[in-house]
Amino acid sequence: MDSNELQKIEKTAKNEVSGAKNLDELNDLRIKFLGRERGALTLVLRNLKNLPQEERKIIGKNANHLKILTEELFEKRGEELKKTEFDSILKKEWLDVTRPGAKIERGSLHPITLVRCEVEKIFSSMGFGVVEGPEVETEWYNFDALNIPKDHPARDLWDTFWLKPAQTGADGTRKVAENFLRNSASSLRSSALLLRTHTSPVQIRYMQSHNPPIRIIAPGRVYRYEATDAGHDIQFHHVEGLMIDKHISIANFKAVILELFKKLFGKEVKIRLRPSYFPFVEPGFEVDLSCIVCNAKGCPVCKKTGWSEIMGAGMVHPKVFEAVGYIPRNQQGFAFGIGLDRITMMKYKIPDIRLFHSGDLRFLKQF
Ligand code: PHE
Repeated sequence: MDSNELQKIEKTAKNEVSGAKNLDELNDLRIKFLGRERGALTLVLRNLKNLPQEERKIIGKNANHLKILTEELFEKRGEELKKTEFDSILKKEWLDVTRPGAKIERGSLHPITLVRCEVEKIFSSMGFGVVEGPEVETEWYNFDALNIPKDHPARDLWDTFWLKPAQTGADGTRKVAENFLRNSASSLRSSALLLRTHTSPVQIRYMQSHNPPIRIIAPGRVYRYEATDAGHDIQFHHVEGLMIDKHISIANFKAVILELFKKLFGKEVKIRLRPSYFPFVEPGFEVDLSCIVCNAKGCPVCKKTGWSEIMGAGMVHPKVFEAVGYIPRNQQGFAFGIGLDRITMMKYKIPDIRLFHSGDLRFLKQF
């Protein structure tokens, strides 16, 4: 060991440390020169004890000096490398905090839902409760209790989806089928199942469990086994209405309905009642609304008549009161069934009822 060797170490250390390209490389070099086990300088210092005393003094002093110098070199290069690495991260991960965020697409309510909510709000403000009933109904609720017995020609007014009871299948299904058959045999009330063709069965259900006075609406889906076109679909929506008390008349009905349309369409509208036949009301009528789309001037929506047919209505038939166990002469009332799809089409000027279930986003996004 001599001073030359120290100088050599110093030179290579200076060269290599200043040439280190990153912190990993620098760390390897630290081990090479200062490592506790085999670092070049460490070895020099460890071997001092084998040198003659004079030499040990000089070399020892120089070696310690070099150690401090080398540590400083590492320190300095380390700082430099840390800074360049940080700078390159800043460059790579640059973020423009002033940039507007990506827009999150939101869904919207279906137009039928919008109008249904509005109709519910308007009726609530007139003191009507909102009730619901099942979409799968029995024959008794959908027809018999509404004064439409089996083989009554009026049944043809409602083309019906009948549901088959399951005859075979896993144990569970068989049990359902057996129960079903037992019930239909033991009861005079037919429990054959169908998809309700109107919301009128909800009137029956409600009157069975409540006494007059009654003021309710019952919105919901109804089904008919029909050919579809721009004005008809196999699935659509009704809002049933029922108001019963001691002295309810058609004048009350007209007032309620005019109020509904005035609020819904935001302007005065005209209605006209045409005599019509529904077995569960007497007298029965159909209600036409002056066409909102063309202001009653005549357009494709109203088929150039200026009027659009939007609901059936009438005074509740005594037979219906009998079916729910009321004494017919003790009360009277009106009932109506509004085509929700029709008035939605009017409100938003929608030309084809089938758009409602098309799932077409270009249509739905407009609401
Ligand atoms: N339920 C009838 C229909 O299906 C509408 C209606 C409801 C008529 C209530 C009179 C009274 O068209």
